[in-house]
Amino acid sequence: KKRVAILISGGGSNMVTLVNSMTGDHPARPCLVLSNVPAAGGLAKAEALGISTAIVDHRNFTGDRAGFEAALNEVLEAHSPDIICLAGFMRILTEGFTGHWAGRCLNIHPSLLPKYKGLHTHQRAIEAGDAEAGCSVHEVTAELDGGPVLGQVRVPVLPGDDAASLAARVLAEEHKLYPAVLRRYAEGNRTPLYLP
Ligand code: GAR
Repeated sequence: KKRVAILISGGGSNMVTLVNSMTGDHPARPCLVLSNVPAAGGLAKAEALGISTAIVDHRNFTGDRAGFEAALNEVLEAHSPDIICLAGFMRILTEGFTGHWAGRCLNIHPSLLPKYKGLHTHQRAIEAGDAEAGCSVHEVTAELDGGPVLGQVRVPVLPGDDAASLAARVLAEEHKLYPAVLRRYAEGNRTPLYLP
């Protein structure tokens, strides 16, 4: 089976859905959950699920992004992952990381890429008056949120939505999309998946 390492910074709800999806005849299994935030709530959830965890605290690498990325790479290499899933990992990654894992690294982003790369995606969609929002899974390249899209789900923006209500609606779809795309990716299928 393919070995999957999952990178988190926060609550890890996407990480939990990915881990729970990798059962039975699934072609992959989780090998590590790695956080850049020592207090990330997802670490305890990973431990409860019996997954190895690690922390690489970016605050130990102030002004040294290359050092941070080398430390991530070293911890990851020790677990020999075939696939890396970024799941709410909130540090920008550059060539030192993306080049190392090219063709092996996925991210989930809470917008309909190529719209709204970066932060505050839901607030920006609401302020733009968009009728639809959603989420995307894409391959990670050195261009922030710019790699090839591997799957998307759309949700309506409803009257009265604020960023929090829209984020909750999108997150529920993230939990369907990311496991579906990971499974296909582990099977070697790079055709984009557009869920209804
Ligand atoms: C998710 O909505 C994910 O799409 C987003 O952070 C949240 C993490 O939630 N990621 C980004 O904004 C990446 N720039 P989780 O920790 O519960 O999975």
